[in-house]
Amino acid sequence: MYAPFVSQRTLKTCLPGLAFLAFCLLLLATGKSLSGSGLPKPTFRGGAQKGLDRQENQQHPIPPHRTPAERPKLEPGRCTPEIEFLRRQELGLTDNIRYTRRCIKPVYSDTVDRDAVTNVSTPLVNTAKMATINLTSCVRTELPPCERLELHVPKPYPAKKYPHLLFGVSSRYERMQNSVDTFGQFLSGTGAQLYVIIEDADKQTSTDPTLTKLQQLYRDADIQATFKHTVDQLHFILVRSLLSFSQTQNKPGVTKWLGIIDDDTFITSLHALESRILSQFDPSKPYWLGALSDDFHSVNMWGFMAFGGAGVFLSLPLASQIEPHIETCMARSRVQSGDGILKECIYRYTRTKLTIVDGLYQHDLHGDASGFYESGVNPVTVHHWKSWYQDPIPKMAEISKVCGDCWLQRWKFRGINDMLLANGYSIAEGPGGLDKVDLSRIEGTWSHPTSQFDPSYGPLRRKLGPARKKSYKLVDVNMVAAGGELRQIYVHRKPDAWQAEEGVMDEVIELIWEV
Ligand SMILES: *[C@@H]1O[C@H](CO)[C@@H](O)[C@H](O)[C@H]1NC(C)=O
Ligand SMILES: *[C@@H]1O[C@H](CO)[C@@H](O)[C@H](O)[C@H]1NC(C)=O
Repeated sequence: MYAPFVSQRTLKTCLPGLAFLAFCLLLLATGKSLSGSGLPKPTFRGGAQKGLDRQENQQHPIPPHRTPAERPKLEPGRCTPEIEFLRRQELGLTDNIRYTRRCIKPVYSDTVDRDAVTNVSTPLVNTAKMATINLTSCVRTELPPCERLELHVPKPYPAKKYPHLLFGVSSRYERMQNSVDTFGQFLSGTGAQLYVIIEDADKQTSTDPTLTKLQQLYRDADIQATFKHTVDQLHFILVRSLLSFSQTQNKPGVTKWLGIIDDDTFITSLHALESRILSQFDPSKPYWLGALSDDFHSVNMWGFMAFGGAGVFLSLPLASQIEPHIETCMARSRVQSGDGILKECIYRYTRTKLTIVDGLYQHDLHGDASGFYESGVNPVTVHHWKSWYQDPIPKMAEISKVCGDCWLQRWKFRGINDMLLANGYSIAEGPGGLDKVDLSRIEGTWSHPTSQFDPSYGPLRRKLGPARKKSYKLVDVNMVAAGGELRQIYVHRKPDAWQAEEGVMDEVIELIWEV
């Protein structure tokens, strides 16, 4: 099914020149372009995700040659816990780092304009006066004092239960095993149900072949999860499984919405999903809620439908209408992806049309998605964050536990160089100031930010080069004791790290949210 798509796309890319054509052929020959060319989208389609896995392994966020050997253990008391956190091998920091910090006191308010860029007349930090820390020995110059800054933020989300939400995922054993923390971040303790069909359960040859064990892993994380086995081609059956699960195991009448998501769909919070989207619709009526792809080219390819990675939400009446036709829909379908079959089935057997809702993102973005995350957007779902681009989204979104919708909220700080904080994602320093940058537009940072993205993101502004934008991106967070502090580690990695340049080091800005 991919062949026509790939050749069309590749052809278009290759037309400009013969040399480039040769290059493209080479890429095709090595098979590399398949994962990088904008090939749409594993969407509750199960087996088709195999290529995605390969790519994930290849593109570790920290280039392997950068990661220093594990640092020697130091005698107790030699290093502070904060620096010990930075010494961890997985952060891949250079031996010596430059370091500064700021303490932030969140001031909660009902009236804060979450979507505005708030001007702050003082610098966030002074990057000209950073401490130097040798992470191997913990020898350091004096650390800058943690001066306190007050920032006005929305209140944390209320602790509520969501037993009326039933999520369905079709995936594979190992992927679910590795995703428990990510699912836990939005499902743990919420009372929402997760129903997973594992397509390779019978092929699993590792030491733990049982789904019970996987189920226990999720229940230990306080996720109401049920794991079932299926055969490769039948993942569209998920709609039927969810419907029958909602009528039997989960007491009848409790479930109101079926949410079908991919195993790499990240939901920022069920509160946002419920309050901003689902509560606007009457679940006793047939509804098909979702989002188109943000790349209109994909919409042309796949049709006017809810793209699976962004999350598809069905009310029970709609699911019941298509349930008797599931076999026919699968047999007649010309596509293999679950979201595509669902589209055909809904169009063929119901009068229900797609309702496009705000805040769900399919993210057919490749390479650098920072333009999206630094735009002040307030997403409910994001996707492809560990394949087509690489960002530790669950860690980045951790700040929402402190101040709800404040994830990706923006502040502009005056200084020698202006700085823009996109909370939890990055700190961008603009040498020469940010006044000329139109922060109301999305920066087209990803590969091919063409007019195909205008329906979702336009008008775009041009990508800023490294001379105009120096980025510190969040690499990790550390929640110190429940209700204590949330430490955000933002890192500017030294360029060309593999060349041992004298004196060039990674720079770390730590923001300490005093909760
Ligand atoms: C922030 O400052 C910019 C100029 O630097 C100005 O255009 C904008 O209106 C200010 N925003 C607010 C909310 O005061
Ligand atoms: C850091 O300290 C270790 C141990 O004292 C030393 O061997 C190393 O050269 C230092 N690194 C740098 C970059 O100065």
